[in-house]
Amino acid sequence: GVPDQFLRELPKCEHHVHIEGTLEAEQLFQFANRNNISLPEGFPATIEDLKAKYNFANLQEFLDLYYIGASVIVTEEDFYELAFAYFKKAASQGVVHAEIFFDPQSHTSRDVSIVTVVSGLTRACKEAEKKFSITTKLIMCLLRHTAPSECSKTIESAKKYIKDGTIAGLGLDSSEKGFPPSLFVECYEVAKKYNADLRLTAHAGEEGPASYVIEALDLLKVERIDHGIRVADDDKLLERLAEEKIMLTICPLSNVKLQVVDKTADLPLQKLLDYGVPFSINSDDPAYFGGYILDNFYQLSKEYPQWGFFTWGQIVKNSINGSWCDAKRKEDL
Ligand code: HPA
Ligand code: ZN
Repeated sequence: GVPDQFLRELPKCEHHVHIEGTLEAEQLFQFANRNNISLPEGFPATIEDLKAKYNFANLQEFLDLYYIGASVIVTEEDFYELAFAYFKKAASQGVVHAEIFFDPQSHTSRDVSIVTVVSGLTRACKEAEKKFSITTKLIMCLLRHTAPSECSKTIESAKKYIKDGTIAGLGLDSSEKGFPPSLFVECYEVAKKYNADLRLTAHAGEEGPASYVIEALDLLKVERIDHGIRVADDDKLLERLAEEKIMLTICPLSNVKLQVVDKTADLPLQKLLDYGVPFSINSDDPAYFGGYILDNFYQLSKEYPQWGFFTWGQIVKNSINGSWCDAKRKEDL
């Protein structure tokens, strides 16, 4: 193993964090109160009762709570505060570059405009870059449980932000099984047409099969895969990922909390290293899954004691290389 201090000080890049998933229970009630949002019948009344609900049998059980949580985020200031608090926490854990996901549809469906969402997030990015000397990017995700035609509308509503680079990347999240990447080919094509520099990723192979990872690569033309742990079932695919340097954004505590695996030691991480498949270590929805990025690093260090300084150094190098910051910034990191 390696000392905790070494893990703390590693220059970390976060590529997989849903900003709505950084909403702490305390903030959830605070935002609900100040926005006069009434939470649904039977919703826990206290912070303690709410936190006691953070046990999930699968992705869907989590998402059901996550979307209720997202419903209290309303104003530009809310989005700003939420993201700024995340950047502050991340910087304190050694994050030097953070790419954050956001789900515009979980807001526009409540008549919160994409302008409100993006303005608040962008302001937080700028402020955090100044205050914490980090770099940031925004990745807009499409909700795959909604109709592709709805996702197309989201792309249209985000057109100017895609064109001017405010939105640096496009992703795909929410309920995976039964919603294959193939449904979203047109969405990805249209978005890429608006800006050839738009970066592409997609959640695949979290609960869904390895074949969804292949679809995401071949049909959506993504350059990165979020989660992707199911690729361990397919040796040919592992070889391809290594060859094409497709990075997986791994979220260990998430995978345990959503019961995708029993324990982080069951993740195929050693297999990824042995095949030379690059991956980064991320927090996904840290407010709900019991830890931010450094907690994920600590957990892996405990369960992979065979990883020494060299292996950790390799993981961190891969995650810098797989980042969507410019080449000069990568050099500096
Ligand atoms: N998977 C899919 N969708 C999500 C997740 C996740 O882990 N977190 C937030 N939306
Ligand atoms: Zn995710």
